[in-house]
Amino acid sequence: MNVVIIGCGNIATYVVNSIVNGETKGIKLHTIVGTPRRTDYLQELSAHANCHWTTDIDSLEWDEIDVMIEAAGQQVVKDHLLTFVKKGKHVLVISIGALVDQDFFQTVYTEAKKSGSQILLPSGAIGGLDAIRNAAMGELRSVELTTKKHPDSLTGAPYIIENGIDMDHLTEDLVLFRGSALEAASAFPENLNVAAALSLAGLGPERTMVNIIASPHIEMNTHEIQATGNFGNLYFRFENKPSPENRKSSYLVNLSVVRTLEDFCRNGGLFYN
Ligand SMILES: NC(=O)c1ccc[n+]([C@@H]2O[C@H](COP(=O)([O-])OP(=O)(O)OC[C@H]3O[C@@H](n4cnc5c(N)ncnc54)[C@H](O)[C@@H]3O)[C@@H](O)[C@H]2O)c1
Repeated sequence: MNVVIIGCGNIATYVVNSIVNGETKGIKLHTIVGTPRRTDYLQELSAHANCHWTTDIDSLEWDEIDVMIEAAGQQVVKDHLLTFVKKGKHVLVISIGALVDQDFFQTVYTEAKKSGSQILLPSGAIGGLDAIRNAAMGELRSVELTTKKHPDSLTGAPYIIENGIDMDHLTEDLVLFRGSALEAASAFPENLNVAAALSLAGLGPERTMVNIIASPHIEMNTHEIQATGNFGNLYFRFENKPSPENRKSSYLVNLSVVRTLEDFCRNGGLFYN
């Protein structure tokens, strides 16, 4: 399958290297899309991968492309996902936070059913979404996410700025936020991807609860998930090492994208759900 990757940051670079190193089967990298600000690196990365590059998504050779990989941010999803889907392209979305807008999600989903496009949502920094989805087939009563991160990974969030929270002198854990995944969308947009993935798998953005804690002594991003329903109870805890190239992201996210892509592009084989 011919693949285009949007972004040339941490995740995109990892995926490109995995393809170049032959860790993925049945995938040919067609083009890397970046921003004009990063043209030098874009050229370097595409030369390494022996593929095309561009800073203009609209100039892509659509007839030659099967799969789009978004590894660039929520704005790219908001601006381009619908177009990709209408063209019948399969799309791997890593900035899942953009999909908590239910109207947008429904529009994309409806168009995908018409065009035959498949939208791939990697589990990213967490896992266990299969169990949440299974539980939602019955009576899933509650799903709650507690994310604990170092203050450095949370600074700059609109909620912190608007509330004038001093993140520089924390000596102990501080609960910053408790609310729905929908409320977290505007409060902590950069940290929303995990909450969004969880809510899409289960109770939706309005009923999935999110706690965000700043922890000055923590070394790994931690996500705890608790759910209850008529299946029983579940509890997952993820302690994620940061990605070597972007300390705000987790290495598990890179692995998750490559696994999702590989599972989709190779024909047959095992499929876990
Ligand atoms: N689902 C998850 O669990 C999860 C976890 C971590 C990150 N993410 C998402 O993945 C995204 C990428 O993460 P990263 O660590 O690679 O970030 P990064 O900052 O290292 O890289 C992002 C890249 O996208 C490029 N970019 C931005 N806008 C673009 C555009 N319009 N066209 C082309 N390129 C564009 C930037 O220049 C940059 O190179 C994040 O923005 C985040 O939303 C999801």
